[in-house]
Amino acid sequence: MHGTLLSALLLAAPTFALHRNLPFPPVSRQAKAAKLDAFDWYALEPADNITWTPCFGGQQCARLNVPLDHSVPDGPKVQVALQRIPATDKENYQGSIFVNPGGPGGAGTQFVLTGGQALVAIFGPTFDILGFDPRGTGATTPRADCVGTDPRRQAAWADSEIVGTREGDGSIPLTRAHNQVRGELCAAALGGDGKQEIGGTVESWGPGRFMDTASVVEDMVKILEQLGQEKLHFYGASYGTLLAQYFAAIHPDKVGRLVIDGVLDGAKWQLGKMADTSKDADAIMEQFYAGCSKAGKSGCAIWEPTPRAVARRLDRILDALKREPIPLPFYPGGPTVLTFDMVSAYIFTTGLYFPSLSFGQVAESARAVETRNTAYFNAFPLMSFLDGVAVWDRPNDAFSAVMCTDFPRLNDTLAAEVADLRIANKVSWGGPYFASQIRFQCGAWKMQAKHRYAGPVSSKVDVPALVVSSRYDPVTPLVNAKAVAARNGWRLLLQESSGHTSLVFLYPTGCVARALRAYMTNATLPAKGTVCESPATPFA
Ligand SMILES: *[C@@H]1O[C@H](CO)[C@@H](O)[C@H](O)[C@H]1NC(C)=O
Ligand SMILES: *[C@@H]1O[C@H](CO)[C@@H](O)[C@H](O)[C@H]1NC(C)=O
Ligand SMILES: *[C@@H]1O[C@H](CO)[C@@H](O)[C@H](O)[C@H]1NC(C)=O
Repeated sequence: MHGTLLSALLLAAPTFALHRNLPFPPVSRQAKAAKLDAFDWYALEPADNITWTPCFGGQQCARLNVPLDHSVPDGPKVQVALQRIPATDKENYQGSIFVNPGGPGGAGTQFVLTGGQALVAIFGPTFDILGFDPRGTGATTPRADCVGTDPRRQAAWADSEIVGTREGDGSIPLTRAHNQVRGELCAAALGGDGKQEIGGTVESWGPGRFMDTASVVEDMVKILEQLGQEKLHFYGASYGTLLAQYFAAIHPDKVGRLVIDGVLDGAKWQLGKMADTSKDADAIMEQFYAGCSKAGKSGCAIWEPTPRAVARRLDRILDALKREPIPLPFYPGGPTVLTFDMVSAYIFTTGLYFPSLSFGQVAESARAVETRNTAYFNAFPLMSFLDGVAVWDRPNDAFSAVMCTDFPRLNDTLAAEVADLRIANKVSWGGPYFASQIRFQCGAWKMQAKHRYAGPVSSKVDVPALVVSSRYDPVTPLVNAKAVAARNGWRLLLQESSGHTSLVFLYPTGCVARALRAYMTNATLPAKGTVCESPATPFA
C-alpha cells in the first residue's frame, strides 16, 4: 500500500494545508511514538452529555451528539470527538483551553495526544487542555471521506494527485480534471438528497453542507455549555486562527482568551481570495541558501561557498530530476516514481514549514536526488501508511470540505482559475504547490453550506486576543496577523523566526510560550511591539 505523509505531518505541527503522497519522512518522531490506534473511538458510545472515559494512558475521551443543523435541534446529529488532559491544580482551576492544530482537517484529539504535554507545559496546571475534532475530521462523525474508506481506493486516489500547477505543461487541465473527480465524489458522498426531513439521516441531509466553520463555532458553544464554562479559552494554530476569528465575530460575549498563531485573514478567506497566501515563501528559500552556505560542508549536504551557488546547485538537481525521474520499485510505501513535483512540494511543505527542524534534512534529500541514491529513499522509517491505520487517523477531504463551503461559490472557468494561478505563481515559488491549488479545488466544489457565515469578521471582546506570527511564514504571512490584529484591536506578538506558526509547542519554555502563559493565566498582554527572538536556528 502506498503511504501518505499527511496524517504524520499534521501531528508534527499545526498546518494550514498539506500534500499527500510525498515520499519523505516527517520531521517528528512523535507521530510514530504516539499509538494513535491504541483506543477505539467508534466503540465509545456517543451521548447527549459529555461522559469522559479514560483513553490513551492518562487522557480522557468522549463523543458528544450535537445537531447537524443547529437551527434544527431535533434533526439528525453529528458526533463530536473530544479528548482532554485534565488540569492537575484543581484548587486554582481556570477551565478548559480548547485547542485546534490547523488544517482545515487537523484533528484536535490527535493534537492533544501528541502535543498535549507540551501544551500543558506552556499553559500550566490550572487548565484542562481540550481537543475537539471539527466536523469532517478525525474521530468526529461523519467524516469527509469522499473516496470511501477502502485503503486501496484511498491510496489509488492519493497517487493520482497532481502536485504542481503551471501554465504550458499540461498540469492545468490535469488539475482541473482531478478536482472535478473530487468535486463529484464529495457531492455524491456528502451532498444529501436535498429534502431535509426531520426523521432523515445525516447522510440524507448532506453532512458536507454543514462542515463550514460557522457550524463548528456552534459546536464549540455546545461543548462550552456542557462543560459549564461561560467563556471560551482557545489556542488555535493556522486554520485554528480562522476558527477563532469566526467565533469572536459570531459570539463576542462568549470570548474569554484567544491565542491565534500563524494567522489566516478571515476577510480574505470569506472572499476565497487566497492567491497571495504563500507570499513569504521565497524569503524562507533565501534563508535556506544562505544558511547552507554558512553551515559549511559538514553542516549542509549540498554546500556551496555562496548562497547563489547553493541556489544554482539545487536548481540543477531539480532540473535533472525533471528530465529524469527516479524509479523506486522497492519503496516501502509501494512502487513509485520520484518526480520533480514531489521533491519540490516536499521542500515546500516540510522545508519551508519547519526550517529549524528540517533544512538539514532537505539538503540531505536533495543530495540523495543528485546522486540518485535510491537506498536513501527506500529507507523511510517514519513513513506512515494507510494500511492498518484506523479510519480516524487517515487523511481525508476535510480540507476542501471546510474551506470550499466557507468560500463563496467560485467561478469554475478556466479563465478564472488561470488568472488566480498567475497571481499565486508570481507571488512565490510555493504557488504551484499550494496557493494555486486552492482555487482549482474550490472552483470544482459542488456543495454550499446552508449557514455559510458572511458577516463581518471583526469583533469587540473584553480581553483582546493574542496574535502570534513568525516573521516569515510560508502559508500564513505576517501581513495577515497585522491585518487581523488591527481590525479587532488585538495584540500582535512577533517571533523573529521562519516557518509555519511560532511552533511554540516545540519550545515550551521560550519567549512566546511565557507570553502565552501570562496571557492565559492572568490576561496579561505582552507590551506593544514585543518581538521574541527565534528559539532555534536552521542548520544549527
Ligand atoms: C444529559 O442528557 C440528558 C438527555 O440525554 C438530559 O436529560 C440531562 O439533563 C443531561 N444532563 C446534564 C447534566 O446535562
Ligand atoms: C466567470 O468567469 C468568466 C470568464 O472569465 C466571466 O466571463 C464571468 O463573468 C465570470 N462570472 C462570474 C459570476 O464572475
Ligand atoms: C499572574 O499574576 C500573579 C500575581 O501578579 C503572579 O504572581 C504570577 O506569576 C502571574 N502568572 C503568570 C503565569 O504570569
